[in-house]
Amino acid sequence: MLPEPAPSEPPLAPEARRPVILTGDRTTGPLHLGHYVGSLRNRVALQDTHEQFLLLADAQALTDNAHDPEKVRRHVLEVALDYLAVGIDPEKSTLCVQSLLPALAELTMLYLNFVTVARLERNPTVKEEIRARGFERDIPAGFLCYPVAQAADITAFRATVVPVGEDQAPMIEQCNEVVRRINRQAGRDVLPEARALIPNVGRLPGIDGKAKMSKSQGNALALSAAPDEISRAVRQMYTDPNHLRASDPGTVEGNVAFAWLDAFDEDKAELEALKAHYRRGGLGDMAVKRRLEDILQALLAPIRERRARLARDPGYVMAVLKAGTDKARARTQATLEEVRDALGLFRL
Ligand code: TRP
Repeated sequence: MLPEPAPSEPPLAPEARRPVILTGDRTTGPLHLGHYVGSLRNRVALQDTHEQFLLLADAQALTDNAHDPEKVRRHVLEVALDYLAVGIDPEKSTLCVQSLLPALAELTMLYLNFVTVARLERNPTVKEEIRARGFERDIPAGFLCYPVAQAADITAFRATVVPVGEDQAPMIEQCNEVVRRINRQAGRDVLPEARALIPNVGRLPGIDGKAKMSKSQGNALALSAAPDEISRAVRQMYTDPNHLRASDPGTVEGNVAFAWLDAFDEDKAELEALKAHYRRGGLGDMAVKRRLEDILQALLAPIRERRARLARDPGYVMAVLKAGTDKARARTQATLEEVRDALGLFRL
């Protein structure tokens, strides 16, 4: 039998024992439906079972937007509004601003010594992003090193669960490599490893059929989209280019309307029947799109309304960010002190 805890030590509050989540988004633009499917939806559910920190990653946003810090600054509030609008509850989740947490930068500096440039250049996500941004030879050093900064983000909160889209999986792998090296150097497990939590629904394709939805590609639907923008997106949506007449058999694979129905239509039985009908022939794109549009309008209307209401009260959102960032500052500073001590750095 374990001895009863001394009366001076109150039992841990239940939330203190919850596994810790850290995840976040670069503040470069409004969040879209791809973010919703890839991670936001998950986070709303996870805030009831985890201690969740959400990072408004403005410092990371600068790694590929150093020419436009004004955009990065402005979108801190916009992304916070998106979070609150989809149902992130500041009583359950902690929203914090990355560039106001100096311990993250200090941890990054320490961790950079435990990573090789060659390893960073091999990171598949970084490689793909370098290609997509056309950096090629002129890669900002901060951009090449952002996986290390992200390892600092994750470990500073002692997070063990990181809900992200599948493209971020190599980041968690690299984070854990840093963790193991630090722990080996320290001779003890000063930092926990983390695991990526990737949604089991596939990535949501863009309106044009491209695999990745992104604002810069112009193929995204923002969470704050107005009703007519939703209609337009559905109207322009890529379906099956060979499905010319309703009576023709159609293809579901690669058809964006069906990919989106897979993500949002809760009546799976009816959706399967719809797919079978489409494949057989006799079901026009119009009918499929009408169903999708109804679902999207119903999903996005309350998000848009809540967002508009919160946007009229920026003082409230600022207070949420201030309280969250203060809490996060204490947490991350404590981890920095532990890592400094574990590595045996000088103290005065
Ligand atoms: N890289 C993420 C993005 O592209 C944002 C991010 C920053 C993040 N730090 C993180 C995600 C830590 C997970 C964990 O949006």
